[in-house]
Amino acid sequence: MKGIVIAGGEGSRLAPATATTSKCLLSVYNKPMVYYPLSVLMLAGIRDILVISRPRDINAYATHLQDGHQWGISITYAEQENPRGGIGEAFIIGRDFVGDGPCSLVLGDNLFFGQGLQNRLRGALERHRGATVFAYQVRDPGKFGVVSFDEYGQASELIEKPAHPRSNWAVTGLYIYDNSVLDVARDTPPGNRGELEITDINCHYLQSGMLRVERLGPGFAWFDAGTPDSLLEASHFVRTIERRQHQSCAVPEEIAFQNGWIDQAQLQRLGQDIRRSDYGRYLVRLAEGKALAGSWE
Ligand code: DAU
Repeated sequence: MKGIVIAGGEGSRLAPATATTSKCLLSVYNKPMVYYPLSVLMLAGIRDILVISRPRDINAYATHLQDGHQWGISITYAEQENPRGGIGEAFIIGRDFVGDGPCSLVLGDNLFFGQGLQNRLRGALERHRGATVFAYQVRDPGKFGVVSFDEYGQASELIEKPAHPRSNWAVTGLYIYDNSVLDVARDTPPGNRGELEITDINCHYLQSGMLRVERLGPGFAWFDAGTPDSLLEASHFVRTIERRQHQSCAVPEEIAFQNGWIDQAQLQRLGQDIRRSDYGRYLVRLAEGKALAGSWE
C-alpha cells in the first residue's frame, strides 16, 4: 500500500501566517502539522509516501521530512502547480507513484487521535476493496463533505459542503482506494469550484456500491486544523493528551521505532540532534528505555 499526503492549497483561511509558510508546516503544539497525517500513514504500516505541495513550498517539506530514511521510510515529493486544482488531483499527479496497487490519501491538515486507531487503520487496509472513507460527527457539517445514511445504516448520499446537511457525519480527510482510483480521478471533471473534488470521486464509488464508510465514534477525535481557532484547539488537545494523559501524539520517530523500522541507536541519534527541546529529550529517554512509550514526563 502506498500513501499520499496532500499538503498544498493556499492556506488562505490562515493568512497572514501562511504568507511565507505552507499551512501544514505550521506548528500544532510541539511539531509541524504534517507530522500528524504522516503519522497516520505510518501507524497503518505504510512506508512508501508521496508528499504533494505547491512549488513554492516543496523544498521546505523536503528540508523537514528529508527522504524518510531517518524514519525507515521512503518519502518522495511532487508539485501541484495550481494550489486549488483540487484534492482529487493527488491521483493525477501521483499516478506513476501509485503504480498498480492500492493507495491511501490523507489531507495535510487533518489530525486523528483515538485508542485503537492503529488497529482500525490496519483492519480497514486488510478488508479493503473499492474505496473506504472515515466519518466523524461534527457540530458544523456544512463546512465538510457530508455522508448520510439510510434506515439500514448504509451510506446513501455524499455531498460536499451542503447548505442543508442531512446528517452531522463529516467525511474526514483520510481515504483508502484500490487502484481504480487512478482512472476514476482521470475521468472525473472539475466541480463547480473548478477543483477536482474528492467528494465527486467518492460519489463514483458510492454509486457503484463500492464505498465503505467507517464511523469514528466515541473515543476518537478528529480535527481539520485549517483555521486559527481549529489550529489552537488542536494544539490544546495535543498538549492535554501528551502532558495529562501521558500519551504521545504523532511522533514519527517513535512509530518507526515501534514498527521496527529504526533501531535504538538511530532513535537515540534523532533525539540527541534536537535534545534542547522536550521533543528531543523524549526521544532520548525512549531510546534509553527510561520513558514509557508515550510518556513525556
Ligand atoms: O477536512 C476534511 C474535508 O476536507 C472533507 O470533509 C471535504 O470533503 C474535503 O473537500 C476537504 O474540504 P476542505 O474545505 O477542508 O478542503 P481544503 O480546501 O481546506 O483542503 C484540505 C487540504 O488539502 C489542505 O491542507 C490543502 C490541501 N489541498 C487542497 C486543495 C483544494 C491541496 O493540497 N490542494 C488542493 O488543490
